[in-house]
Amino acid sequence: MPTTKKQNKSNTGTGEIAPAKGKLGVMIPGMGAVATTFVAGVEAVRKGISKPIGSLTQMGTIRLGKRTDGRSPKINEFVPLAGLNDLVFTGWDIFEDDMYAAAGKAGVLDRSLLEQVKPFLSSIKPRKAVFDKNYVKKLDGPNVKKGKNKMDLAEQLRDDIRDFRKSSGADRLVMAWCGSTETFIEAGPAHQSVAALEKAMQKNDESIAPSMIYAYAALKEGVPFSNGAPNLTVDVPAMHELSKQMNAPICGKDYKTGQTLIKTILAPGFKARMIGLNGWFSTNILGNRDGEVLEDPGSFKTKEESKLSVLEHILQPELYPDLYGNIFHKVRINYYPPRGDNKEGWDNIDIFGWLGYPMQIKVDFLCRDSILAAPIVLDLVLFLDLAKRSSALRGIGIQEWLSFYFKSPMTAPGLYPEHDLFIQSMKLKNTLRHLMGEEMITHLGLEYYD
Ligand SMILES: NC(=O)c1ccc[n+]([C@@H]2O[C@H](COP(=O)([O-])OP(=O)(O)OC[C@H]3O[C@@H](n4cnc5c(N)ncnc54)[C@H](O)[C@@H]3O)[C@@H](O)[C@H]2O)c1
Repeated sequence: MPTTKKQNKSNTGTGEIAPAKGKLGVMIPGMGAVATTFVAGVEAVRKGISKPIGSLTQMGTIRLGKRTDGRSPKINEFVPLAGLNDLVFTGWDIFEDDMYAAAGKAGVLDRSLLEQVKPFLSSIKPRKAVFDKNYVKKLDGPNVKKGKNKMDLAEQLRDDIRDFRKSSGADRLVMAWCGSTETFIEAGPAHQSVAALEKAMQKNDESIAPSMIYAYAALKEGVPFSNGAPNLTVDVPAMHELSKQMNAPICGKDYKTGQTLIKTILAPGFKARMIGLNGWFSTNILGNRDGEVLEDPGSFKTKEESKLSVLEHILQPELYPDLYGNIFHKVRINYYPPRGDNKEGWDNIDIFGWLGYPMQIKVDFLCRDSILAAPIVLDLVLFLDLAKRSSALRGIGIQEWLSFYFKSPMTAPGLYPEHDLFIQSMKLKNTLRHLMGEEMITHLGLEYYD
């Protein structure tokens, strides 16, 4: 079985995977804190200045076969992923700052690090954005496209995509949404089919958010799309249909960083040990532009929905009414400029044990949001590109195996999302084993005692 990077088309147990030849173009709507931390980080790693901490594709290994086999290759040597040196970048933003200026304003990375990657970051200038202030009430900027309707704007984005493909010499492309959180919307008639979506775009229907216009343009160009925000974007039937039609994989929503990451680490532990929970209060102070955008109740509602669903799905109150039938779960985000990107998140967790005796856990996470998000963007870009090259994955639409990275994982209609980080991790690794024709790992292990 293959355990090294493939140079030629691989014939695996589950179809073919085309090799990762040539350049991979990464297209980023929203050149803010997350996007610039990601791109600056890739360049710093390429120059040998820093290590890609937090990235499974760069640092992770995968066990193959029995524990006694001693086969644990690095993930990027096991599956054919694009190398960091093959990545080229472009982006869109409503502000005119190039990535160097934007990274400086975001204030995540030290000046000394930014100076070392300055020429590279300065060369990435924002294309004009598709923007609608009704969707992000707290922002306004000059670098915005004009068009006669939303379909016209999508056509302009498709031109940008073709232009980048040509000018960068990229063989393959991926689009990774790192733009702001848009106001809360629910799927409506315009989102039910590709035909309805296209008609609505022609008519400038207000239920078509800017992020959907980017996603539509990407998918029409056959480009995979990852949604790092909690926005509805590709989580509607029309986009599922288009994704399958165009063999352009999709995944989302909302990068799982900070407080929700910790929540999905702790909650599965309580459930595994049948420890009860009756309250979880989470509050944050955050001072970056994302925090400012989330001051708007519409944008906050989108984020809140994304953060709240996690516990219910992990703890399954319907199966464990005595333990989780009556949970008070509250999430607050407070914009507090002095903290910048260095968020502080507090959790007060009220749990109970044997005979119902109460206990408390307090978590105070001095977190760096974009430092946690950047490796996620990298992994998603590389894995989506793998999915696009895999005959088994490219036509299935939603890539549920990438749930590991998201607060609100997208699933097939009618399926509840898997939020438990450890199940998500096993699902991801088993998908890679399956793709490469390796056996699944069940952790049964009885054979060691025969
Ligand atoms: N930082 C994290 O850990 C984290 C975690 C999960 C999700 N997210 C989400 O990722 C997104 C980016 O976060 P951030 O901290 O980088 O925010 P940010 O405010 O620093 O960057 C967002 C950028 O998107 C731009 N933008 C907004 N609408 C746009 C549009 N229609 N087209 C092009 N550009 C547009 C803004 O001008 C801004 O520069 C947010 O939606 C956030 O909620 C972030």
